[in-house]
Amino acid sequence: MQSKIVILGTGGTIAGTAANPHDNVAYTAGQRSVADLLAAVPALAGLSLEAEQVAQLDSKDMDFATWQRLAQSLGRHLARSDVGGVVITHGTDTLEETAWLLQRVLAPSKPVVLVAAMRPSTALAADGPQNLLDAVAVARAPGARGVVVALAGRVHAAGDVRKVRPYRLDAFDSGDAGVLGVVEEGHLRRFRDWPAGVPLGLALLEGDVARWPWVEIVTSHAGARGDAVRALCAAGVHGLVVAATGNGTVHQSLQAALDEAVAAAIPVWRCTRCAGGVLVGTDVGPAAAMSPWQARVELLLTLLAARAG
Ligand code: SIN
Repeated sequence: MQSKIVILGTGGTIAGTAANPHDNVAYTAGQRSVADLLAAVPALAGLSLEAEQVAQLDSKDMDFATWQRLAQSLGRHLARSDVGGVVITHGTDTLEETAWLLQRVLAPSKPVVLVAAMRPSTALAADGPQNLLDAVAVARAPGARGVVVALAGRVHAAGDVRKVRPYRLDAFDSGDAGVLGVVEEGHLRRFRDWPAGVPLGLALLEGDVARWPWVEIVTSHAGARGDAVRALCAAGVHGLVVAATGNGTVHQSLQAALDEAVAAAIPVWRCTRCAGGVLVGTDVGPAAAMSPWQARVELLLTLLAARAG
């Protein structure tokens, strides 16, 4: 019997609508149901698919409650013996954060493919239907596992994917690692291993999300000041990620405030604000190879684990 692929809908441009078919910018994300999106792809008709609407939002508004609901729903479906993989429709704007959260929490032995679009579903040449078809192909690929992203014919691993372009159809990149593979006429040509790792476990995300740790990102730049960091600490922030210049350098005024935060037992993680590459040297810390947004998710999970601990 053919394994079922579950499609979880969360909104995004892939489910967006615009008043004019030629308008790829002024549209509202998260308008069409995931069932509707599937119905728009006739080539999916013969497959064993099941759809569930988990959320309906513009991913700029992604929040902890939606992450919790999505992770729990995903965990439930992955545990089913009749399910071979899961596809998640999502906005591109915070997709890399969700992808990393799900990979770290579940590190699934089945494929989880996040899929998005850069044009609304009403566009003259909408990219969503092809991306969705490709995502299902990736979820059905033999041996597929882990959290990956499918967009514009390219497949990215959760740990590498970054949104690097605000408008072009190929909005994502995998930096130095390169893409995991490409989808050509329904077939995945894979260049690298699937994402793997030890799952932190869904239990980490249980409980009241209002009590999840508060982690903020601060950026070092010309003329940086420590006031924002001091205000955050006074307001009760639980952790800070500093998007540092170059190979991890921080403006002296900002550094002074960050030193005060560390002295007050608030963890401060450093990563580079450069779009690519990693921090090089000794004592670079746990976020050396992460983007600021990925590091923020990782620090959030680390603080949750410490509380559970
Ligand atoms: C969103 O992130 O929900 C809107 C933008 C997009 O999907 O490209």
